[in-house]
Amino acid sequence: THTAVGIVGGGPAGLMLSHLLSRAGIDSVVIDNRTRTEIENTVRAGILEAGSVRLLVDTGVSDRVHRDGDAHEGIALRFGGASHRIDFAELAGASVWLYPQTDVFTDLADARERDGGDVRFGVRDTQVLDVATDRPGIRYTDAGGAGHEVRCRYLVGADGSRSICRLEVPERLRAHYVREYPFAWFGILAEAPKSAPELVYTHSPRGFALISQRTETVQRMYFQCPPDTDPDTWSDAAIWDELQARVAGPDGFTLTEGPITARTVLRFRSFVAEPMRHGNLLLAGDAAHTVPPTGAKGLNLALADVRVLAEALEQVLRTGDDAALDGYSTRALSRVWKAQHFSYWMTTMLHTLPGGTDFDLRRQLGELESVVGSRAGSAYLAEGYTGWPA
Ligand code: DHB
Repeated sequence: THTAVGIVGGGPAGLMLSHLLSRAGIDSVVIDNRTRTEIENTVRAGILEAGSVRLLVDTGVSDRVHRDGDAHEGIALRFGGASHRIDFAELAGASVWLYPQTDVFTDLADARERDGGDVRFGVRDTQVLDVATDRPGIRYTDAGGAGHEVRCRYLVGADGSRSICRLEVPERLRAHYVREYPFAWFGILAEAPKSAPELVYTHSPRGFALISQRTETVQRMYFQCPPDTDPDTWSDAAIWDELQARVAGPDGFTLTEGPITARTVLRFRSFVAEPMRHGNLLLAGDAAHTVPPTGAKGLNLALADVRVLAEALEQVLRTGDDAALDGYSTRALSRVWKAQHFSYWMTTMLHTLPGGTDFDLRRQLGELESVVGSRAGSAYLAEGYTGWPA
C-alpha cells in the first residue's frame, strides 16, 4: 500500500490525526498491535479539556460527549480534612468534561469506520523503516499471518509510552528527559453512587487520594501506593478503609462504598523526547511525552499535538516546505513543557514522599493554603487544569 501519512498507533492520537487529515483530503493508514476490543476494555483517563471537546464535536467526530459526558465547573482540593472548591468557570471562564478516554476512542474508531478510514487493528511484528528517507514505511504481519508493507511520505509515531517509533531518532540527535516518582496509583472502579458532585483531589498524611466518577452508578477512585504494590493482595474492605481514612475529616465526609469491579496499579513518571521530528518521522502523544496522571493532562496533550500536527502535515504536503515539520515540534513542545510543569506541580503538592518529614507535610499544607487562599493561586490551578489556549 502507498499512502500520504502512515500512522503507527490507533489510540486517540493516531485516530484523531487520521480523522483530521481525512477532512483535509489527505490519505492515511493507521495500524495498531492491539485489537479494537483490547483498547476498548482498558480503563484509562476520564477528563477532557473544553478544547478537546470542541475538537471532537466541531470536526464532526461525534457530539456524544455533549449527551453522555458531564460538564464539571470545578474541583475540590481537600486537605487538613476540609474541602476547598476551585471554581473553573469563575477563575478561568472554562469547564472540563468528565468523559472516559475509552469513549473518546470508540467515537474516533466509529468515525473512521463511518468515513471509510483505513485502520488496521490487531496486527503484530510491527517495524518501521527508512524514517530518514522520503519513502518511510511500516511492515507488519496481519492476524492471519500474512506480511504487509505500507509506504508513505510521512510516518507518525502515535504508538504510546512504549513507542518503537521514537527509538528511530538517532541517539546523538535526541534528548530524553525523565523524572521518576517513588509512588504509584492504585485505581479502582466501584459500583456505587457518587460520593461528591465534583472530583476531589485529596492531600492527607497517609498519602494522596482522588475521588473521580464514571456514571451515576459507577465511580473511579485512586490512592497513592508504593510502586511495587500487587493490587490482588488488597481485600475490598482494606481498599475502602484506606480510601475512607485518606478523605476523613471533621466535616464528616465519607465515600459511599460498593463492590469493586476493577483494580490496577498505574505507573507514574514524567518523560519528554525532543525533538518530536526526525526526517519524515513525527512523534505525537505518549510516544513523545508522558505526564503523571495528577493533572489529567495526558489525553488532552495527545489531542493538542495532533491538532497542530495535522496543520503542519497539510502545509508541507501542499507547499513542500518542510519547515512546517520543525514548527510542529517547537509548537507542541511549548505546551508539553507547560503541562509537564503543571502535572509535576499537582503531583508534588498533593502526594506524600516516602521518608518525608513533618516539615515536608507542613510545607505542603502551607502551599495548599496559599493556593486556595489566593485568587491568583486558584486561577493558576484553574487555567492549567482547564487547559491553555491553542
Ligand atoms: C481521572 C484521572 C486523572 O488522572 C485525573 O486527574 C482525574 C480523573 C479519571 O480517571 O477519572
